[in-house]
Amino acid sequence: MLILKALHLKNNQTVFDLGAGDGIVIFNAAKNSYEKKINTKFIAVEINPVLLLILHLRRFFHPNKKNIIIIKDDIFKINFMNFIDFKDFITIYLYISPWFIEKVIENCKLKIENFNVVSYMYPIKSLQSKQKIINGKNIIYIY
Ligand SMILES: C[S@@+](CC[C@H](N)C(=O)[O-])C[C@H]1O[C@@H](n2cnc3c(N)ncnc32)[C@H](O)[C@@H]1O
Repeated sequence: MLILKALHLKNNQTVFDLGAGDGIVIFNAAKNSYEKKINTKFIAVEINPVLLLILHLRRFFHPNKKNIIIIKDDIFKINFMNFIDFKDFITIYLYISPWFIEKVIENCKLKIENFNVVSYMYPIKSLQSKQKIINGKNIIYIY
């Protein structure tokens, strides 16, 4: 999974999946970090109640569940600092409609001092100057 490469999992890192869906990415990443014995924390943020139920169920049976948090919140408003340890690297993972991306990034900039972003399929104009890409079935943009 190329997204795993882009997330660059390491110790003392917190990965937020903003709009986590059924959790396919976050649970795969958490499994990968469990196998590599690294302590990355994973935070899945979702607003849809059905998807939240699926996320909670999948978390319950996950080998790395102690490092996974599921949050019901709005990705345009979430206050990240409630979930961040100051010394952690923060990675924001996004796979959301291009119409919403800039609004989400605006909220991140307001509330997090330093973070990097992995965006599946859609580039982020306001972060363009530090853009790297990974070519796969769909492009992954890293900032
Ligand atoms: C395309 S899915 C991405 C799923 C997953 N991150 C992935 O990469 O496979 C986008 C998700 O964002 C969620 N979403 C949309 N608006 C949201 C909002 N304001 N707050 C939280 N989640 C939202 C949707 O419910 C949907 O599950």
